[in-house]
Amino acid sequence: MISSMTERTYHTELQSEAASFKPHSGGVVTGTAAWSCPSNIAIVKYWGKREVQLPMNPSLSITLREAVTRTHLEYRFNPEIRKPGLTFRFGGREAPGFGQRTRTFLERITPFMPWLRHTVLRIDSENTFPHSSGIASSASAMGALAICLVAAEASIVRPEASGDLLDDPGVLKKASFLARLGSGSASRSLFPGLALWGKSDVWPGASDEYAIPVTGFHEDFRDMRDAILIVESGQKKVSSSAGHALMEGNPFAASRFGQARENLEQLAPILREGDWPGLIRVLEEEALTLHAMMMTGRPGYLLMLPQTLAILQRVRSFREETGCRIGFTLDAGANVHLVYADGDAFPSEGFIRNELTRFCENGRVIHDRMGTGPESLI
Ligand code: PMV
Repeated sequence: MISSMTERTYHTELQSEAASFKPHSGGVVTGTAAWSCPSNIAIVKYWGKREVQLPMNPSLSITLREAVTRTHLEYRFNPEIRKPGLTFRFGGREAPGFGQRTRTFLERITPFMPWLRHTVLRIDSENTFPHSSGIASSASAMGALAICLVAAEASIVRPEASGDLLDDPGVLKKASFLARLGSGSASRSLFPGLALWGKSDVWPGASDEYAIPVTGFHEDFRDMRDAILIVESGQKKVSSSAGHALMEGNPFAASRFGQARENLEQLAPILREGDWPGLIRVLEEEALTLHAMMMTGRPGYLLMLPQTLAILQRVRSFREETGCRIGFTLDAGANVHLVYADGDAFPSEGFIRNELTRFCENGRVIHDRMGTGPESLI
């Protein structure tokens, strides 16, 4: 087994960079950063963690396009300030719950961004998608905040640097590392197309500490669609931290982690060759295993509803009858994500409209697709 010391090399590198931080003589720096960052839906799921937000297995996800968080950050760095400050607003209003979560996140990342100790932040954030709709809002929110903070850091620590922030590949790496400390799956939201988080022997450059972009996948997967069928909106019944924690006593945990690793290995040729049946096999197996893990935890819990199962069965029959490249996946809830080929959008959307919306709460479906990653809003 690889020791956690060797796995956490980037962590150590950032800590030593932080140790040599000295506020430059210029004194006060004020500025604004504003970024949008998308959510993502995992093909291979992250479920089970260790230490501080390190995954028990590698995961791979599709970055979405429409479901994004937009975050606007104003900062005032002053070496004389001894106590950091934070105002947090969500959708134009004070949001004490999110504010507290952000405060905890900022405390956790301060060892890697020591200037935060001397900075007052004002954060305004909003989502383009409804809250509790089965779209991972923590992934887009933590991703957007992380990249805003990396942008602020660039102007505070290296005020002489110029050019496009994203020209430096280190920027997204650091943003992904920080986002991971807020929400594991957020680490994958910083990259266009597909992203991979977690060490894997078959994926060079993969790390437990941050995600990397997956490049070179077949053009048949470009612009993949994701229709989110809202079976039930509302707060999650079991938080993802409680779910991850329950993997510790799960009798099937070790084989699950092995299965995820195997699926990830199999995805390498599947993605290269444009093998849709292979992708659908992995996608659906991962969704069902995620829920099997929930059911077999101690205590076990059940998040699928009868409507969820009705949808899954109909998707399989539709695929058999038509040959359309469409498969399902699930997150930690009752809602269903249908992933389908851009080329099969017309029949798939007809099927969703005619056969599946009746299982959705008020007929709600959110149509999304593969996206291009974070964007600067200024
Ligand atoms: O990032 P977290 O801690 O909310 O965990 C997310 C876990 C799943 O969404 C269920 C799966 C995944 O890999 O995104």
